[in-house]
Amino acid sequence: MTKQGYLVVGASGTVGSEIVRLLKEQGHAVRATTSKESRAQNKDGVEWVHLDVGTGAGIKAAFDGVDRAFFLSPPGYADMYKTLSPLVQEAKRRALKKVVLMTAMGANATETTPFRRVEIELEKSGLTYNIVRPNWFMQNFNTFWVQGIKQQGKILLPAGKAKTSFIDARDISAVAAKLLTGDSLNNRDFDITGPEAIDHDQVAEIISAVSKKNVVYQEVEPSVLQKGLIAAGLPEDYCNFLIMILGFLREGYNAKVTENVQLILGRPPIAFEQYAKDTKQAWI
Ligand SMILES: NC(=O)c1ccc[n+]([C@@H]2O[C@H](COP(=O)([O-])OP(=O)(O)OC[C@H]3O[C@@H](n4cnc5c(N)ncnc54)[C@H](OP(=O)(O)O)[C@@H]3O)[C@@H](O)[C@H]2O)c1
Repeated sequence: MTKQGYLVVGASGTVGSEIVRLLKEQGHAVRATTSKESRAQNKDGVEWVHLDVGTGAGIKAAFDGVDRAFFLSPPGYADMYKTLSPLVQEAKRRALKKVVLMTAMGANATETTPFRRVEIELEKSGLTYNIVRPNWFMQNFNTFWVQGIKQQGKILLPAGKAKTSFIDARDISAVAAKLLTGDSLNNRDFDITGPEAIDHDQVAEIISAVSKKNVVYQEVEPSVLQKGLIAAGLPEDYCNFLIMILGFLREGYNAKVTENVQLILGRPPIAFEQYAKDTKQAWI
């Protein structure tokens, strides 16, 4: 890399792919990582390299020529300290100019969770950083929960009547790209949310309206969802983690609305209605 190099971990995913697009649009040199060796090649002006946070393979080579980096822990890994700490350590060894770490809203509720432990490691690393903690993604309704909506017209979750300030993942990517490329908000952490908190009945109503399908929210026991997630192939410890954090959602801990998207991007966050309009094909 000759220009300032940006490393994006999780670059083919929901958040990472949009960060890559934004950085490229701004003319930056981007190195994107994939755990699939067959995909490690230059494509559309992006340098794809192999990096597996499960095994640590490819970490050192991925950082060659990199100045700034974005890190996330891929879904499926319940010990996010194990996946992310080697990345923070390598960033420190290379004295990167900046690291943006994405964890999750609530990660700092106690000091001992895997996500919080890696946040602390980054805070104490001496590196310039930002920590971004998004609330539950709107995009879960066109990824994780899409089958229930398409096949049964149901959102089947143990979420009670709790409200959640869902965030559009496009806002998370925009926030991450802005923090990664700028230095005016250095060494701060941000809980980021959508513009309002809504419950899952409201989610179902909005999805019904845009898709012209009858979609309802039906509360299920955590054990029912857990069985379904394990049957879908998710590791048991990660399912347990998801059930635990859905318990926090049900208790109302994800209802908080923050002003941080407005602060960082200078515009309001995307509303659920807009996300649903943009995504309606996924539910038809
Ligand atoms: N969904 C939510 O509501 C929510 C809320 C708050 C926080 N979060 C956090 O958001 C993160 C997930 O972000 P996302 O939805 O953008 O993820 P995603 O769409 O599932 O993408 C994950 C990426 O990680 C890569 N990957 C998979 N296994 C890997 C491995 N072993 N080593 C390195 N890379 C690997 C995948 O690409 P390859 O297959 O090419 O490797 C993919 O690009 C998680 O840390 C989660 O805790 C999610």
